[in-house]
Amino acid sequence: QAGLKYFGAATDSPGQRERAGYEAAYSQYDAIMWKSGEFGQTTPTNGQKWLFSEPQQGVFNYTEGEIIASKAQKAGLYLRCHALVWHSQLAPWVESTTWTPATLRAAIIAHIEGVAKHWKGRCYAWDVVNEALNEDGTYRDSVFYKVLGEEYIKLAFKTAARVDPHAKLYYNDYNLESPGAKADGAKGIVKMLRKAGIKVDGVGLQAHLIAESHPTLDEHIAAIKGFASLGVEVALTELDIRLQTPATAANLALQKTAYKNVVGACVQVKGCVGVTIWDFYDPFSWVPYVFSGQGAALLWNEDFSTHPAYVGVVEAL
Ligand code: XIL
Repeated sequence: QAGLKYFGAATDSPGQRERAGYEAAYSQYDAIMWKSGEFGQTTPTNGQKWLFSEPQQGVFNYTEGEIIASKAQKAGLYLRCHALVWHSQLAPWVESTTWTPATLRAAIIAHIEGVAKHWKGRCYAWDVVNEALNEDGTYRDSVFYKVLGEEYIKLAFKTAARVDPHAKLYYNDYNLESPGAKADGAKGIVKMLRKAGIKVDGVGLQAHLIAESHPTLDEHIAAIKGFASLGVEVALTELDIRLQTPATAANLALQKTAYKNVVGACVQVKGCVGVTIWDFYDPFSWVPYVFSGQGAALLWNEDFSTHPAYVGVVEAL
């Protein structure tokens, strides 16, 4: 783990895992997740999201997020916390309420005060705002943006900084792993916050990549340097590299190169602090549920043997 602070894996509380019926695999899964020394960090894949943490306005529920947070603490792993303000997996009430700017501001503040205060001092980092951008670098038309414009981003970071001053505050998004319009948009968010005097510490590159069409090492390095040169830290926060199933020797070899490139780029650029894979065990990956015909995106197969890409990661570290 050369220059990195951590190499980690996100994980889910059993009730939230993508695939049910795998209870028999849990003991082996848990041994790798918490006891093997493979991972120095974790992120709860679902439990801290608005849908779970404030399912009704003013009614907070930390149960799901706490399952992972407390295991992380017991195992001595860094905890990345995810995600405070996001248009997806929102509690339904957030989208069904008729907001004025003032009432939505108050709801965002109350949400962050509830959730970030609960985990105060325990999160290495918070993904404060997740996926605010379209592919062309303009702002996504979420309920937050519709009512408040970019002010919602400022409000979220300002509130998170006040509530948990020691957590690193991140902007997190996908398709930031190569230079381009979206990466420029994310840089714009960092600059906009800085200009307003608001604390922002990092940019999270989700890194949901594709084996058959992966970026080069140099593209990843350029993208990461682009953020690091603004003086923020960078992390690969949700790394998985899906392939067209079934897995073959050929696409697994592409996947190995892809993992080696992206992890290698993080290792090589000063300011890239860590890598998180989005779970480690293929049956618990979100990929097949969202990208039809694709899967095998992680490092451990269904039978707990490892992908060639595991070696690619080891080589990169
Ligand atoms: C995914 C989870 O892995 C799934 O279990 C859930 O059903 C949907 O969300 N970007 C993010 C993550 O920031 O929170 C998403 O996680 C994947 C895309």
